[in-house]
Amino acid sequence: MQDKIKSLEDALQKLSPETIKDIEAFKRQYIGKQSLIQEIFNSFKNLDSDTKRLVGSKVNALKQRAQELYDAALEANQPTAEMPWRDASLPGRHMNSGSLHPLTLVEQELMEIFDFIGFTLAKGPEIEDDWHNFTALNFAANHPARDMQDTFFVDSGDEWVLRTHTSGVQVRTMLRSKPPIRVIAPGRVYRCDSDATHSPVFHQLEGLVVDKRVSFKDLKETLYYFTEAFFGKGFEVRFRPSYFPFTEPSAEMDIGKKNAQGGIDWMEILGCGMVDPAVLENCDIDPNEYQGYAFGIGIDRLAMLKFGIPDIRLLYENDSRFLRQFS
Ligand code: PHE
Repeated sequence: MQDKIKSLEDALQKLSPETIKDIEAFKRQYIGKQSLIQEIFNSFKNLDSDTKRLVGSKVNALKQRAQELYDAALEANQPTAEMPWRDASLPGRHMNSGSLHPLTLVEQELMEIFDFIGFTLAKGPEIEDDWHNFTALNFAANHPARDMQDTFFVDSGDEWVLRTHTSGVQVRTMLRSKPPIRVIAPGRVYRCDSDATHSPVFHQLEGLVVDKRVSFKDLKETLYYFTEAFFGKGFEVRFRPSYFPFTEPSAEMDIGKKNAQGGIDWMEILGCGMVDPAVLENCDIDPNEYQGYAFGIGIDRLAMLKFGIPDIRLLYENDSRFLRQFS
């Protein structure tokens, strides 16, 4: 008994609130039901009353000291603003670091590619008026794109739309600056459309060049350069004649990849053409003096091809199991 009291005294002597690292262990060892102090109290019944009184006051003092140490240690470990909780015994909290979205990765890569050949960045609003989105781009009044089925109208007056393409930025850029013009405009666009290859919101990167002596040859050269920079060499490219109200002539470009059967799977990635003289005129640029070419690349399509994503909707579901693969 004397030995136990002595060792208890020594142990408590050595401790201070600051040196108690594991408060709960301290409580178990010196204060709780299984503690050393409790053990001494439990063996009291074997003592005669004189010894009991003598030893009792001593052990009570030790018990009180243990409680004071415990209270002070708790106090010293109160949460603070910088250190909300300090419990070294808790398992660490794992922080998942985020990563760039595949669409952001593709958009950034495209901006670098076009920056390298002298394109600067242009911007336009996502809520666009009918004139910039359609009229100035030579869309006829009864063009099907102006239908509610294809376009999201913002109000009932048919005046404001969620831009259906980034081509409105062509108009804004030409009205704002004089040629030579050499810009790209990446951004979000909207159409009433939804399946595995169409999403009601998707992304385009518009390109516009206006200068003297610009030809279709320059357009093809630029697009060949971009596809090789982006996809590398193992891909086929083809142009198909097409129609857009704001370019003449117009084309679409497909990227082809060899399939297992030895054939080629084609995917449309952009529309392009020479800026229609009527559009230049709408934007106060003399078509007798200047020509231009334009293209609109589907960023989502590029991401799907590059990363082998089978369904466009995966890009918009924010499923971390999908997004984690791009970190
Ligand atoms: N704006 C067209 C589309 O969304 C693409 C395009 C851009 C075509 C520029 C020609 C020139 O389909």
